[in-house]
Amino acid sequence: MDVTIKILRYSPEKDERGHYETYTVEAHENDRVLDVLELVKGHKDGSLAFRRSCAHGVCGSDAMRINGKNRLACKTLIRDVGTTLTIEPLLGLPIKKDLIVDMEPFFDNYKKMLPYFINDDPLPADGRERLQTPEQRARFDDTTKCIMCAACTTACPSYWANDEYYGPAAIVNAHRFVFDSRDQAADLRLQILAETDGTARCHTIYNCTDACPRGIQVTKAIGEVKMAIMTGKV
Ligand code: SF4
Ligand code: FES
Repeated sequence: MDVTIKILRYSPEKDERGHYETYTVEAHENDRVLDVLELVKGHKDGSLAFRRSCAHGVCGSDAMRINGKNRLACKTLIRDVGTTLTIEPLLGLPIKKDLIVDMEPFFDNYKKMLPYFINDDPLPADGRERLQTPEQRARFDDTTKCIMCAACTTACPSYWANDEYYGPAAIVNAHRFVFDSRDQAADLRLQILAETDGTARCHTIYNCTDACPRGIQVTKAIGEVKMAIMTGKV
């Protein structure tokens, strides 16, 4: 079948602003949008720029707007989105070229969350790991699934309105450590998230949850962090 694909093209050296170009390629309904982009790049226009790495929904590098919705190109089948596609870069981050956005502001916010395990106590003398119960693990299981694709943050109107907002993905990754019974820096992270650009900027719009390709309950996680800030309890 023929697939028509309209892509936002932008090259900072050549263009003052972006423009759309349309290509038609032959594809199968079980092909992914990433396959179609590869066909365009391989057979129609080698200058097309987009990110991809694993091609299996693991690395998070190929999030883009597909027919107006943030999705991973490698996890989106043609049969689910139709044969007329509009592909655009994520909103809210500067475009570097075509479908590639500058992820630095996104990762800067992630780093502010201290996204690593903090516990200065010595390990148990018997040499065992720090243990936790299945219930303690379940507390943050959902947020361990994040692949840092930025689909949630760049779907968030609060982030579009104010890019100082740390954004849903940063809060998801703070949640993963705040509710880990083995970690000792929850207070520090909650203090950071209680700042003006933290959870107060979330207006519970649910775009983030809708956009997440991993099915993470992003809005729920943000709500749990808000509650921990208010009650001082994790
Ligand atoms: Fe991507 Fe979901 Fe992580 Fe947001 S929470 S960065 S949408 S995997
Ligand atoms: Fe890795 Fe799509 S290419 S998630």
